[in-house]
Amino acid sequence: MKTSISFLKSKYDRAEAIAKIMETDTDYIHVDMMDGIFVERSVLSISEVKDLLSNSKKLLDIHLMVAHPKNYINELAELNAKYITIHAEIQDDINELIDLIHSYGISAGIAINPESGVDSINDYLDNIEYVLIMGVDPGYGGQELKLESVKKIEELQSLREQYNYHYQISLDGGVNDKTRPLLNGLDIIVSGSYVCISDNYQEIINTLR
Ligand code: DX5
Ligand code: ZN
Repeated sequence: MKTSISFLKSKYDRAEAIAKIMETDTDYIHVDMMDGIFVERSVLSISEVKDLLSNSKKLLDIHLMVAHPKNYINELAELNAKYITIHAEIQDDINELIDLIHSYGISAGIAINPESGVDSINDYLDNIEYVLIMGVDPGYGGQELKLESVKKIEELQSLREQYNYHYQISLDGGVNDKTRPLLNGLDIIVSGSYVCISDNYQEIINTLR
């Protein structure tokens, strides 16, 4: 299983947490961006992300918890991004945004909040490379995993098998040593506070894998 590490909640400041993640062998760095509209909190502006990560040698897994992702996509495409993920719950044209992400040669993801069913993204599944199941309500690190989210892993696996889709399945929020055994079906596991509040990031990443 691949790992993607979020520095949203850490005992170090952002730059230090990022430096510590860089020293590990994690596959991706998960970048949580919030606009104060789609979620009440506003975290990480485009320029802050560019300042922190423009030289990143690690691939980025950019999670846009924002109501209007277009400008974010255009601005962040210059970074070393593997995935840019938008939310299924936004009102903007999702197909257009997927095409925009693809136009930069970046893989497109859709995130679904705990209350959104897999059926809400049926129309996009054949055209995306990544599904991010939210294990918690977006906004904060360190929340408890909602168990209803776990069922979506199997649903997405069987749809992928049935229709020969090619997306990676990932879960974001509430991952720790207690919840990890429930998550064996994932391709990519996102973890924030469990890793970033620990003293040894690499050790925790090894246990997640
Ligand atoms: C929640 C973010 C998550 C969060 C995960 O709004 O999208 O990526 O940082 O943090 P943990 O792993 O602490 O739940
Ligand atoms: Zn996230």
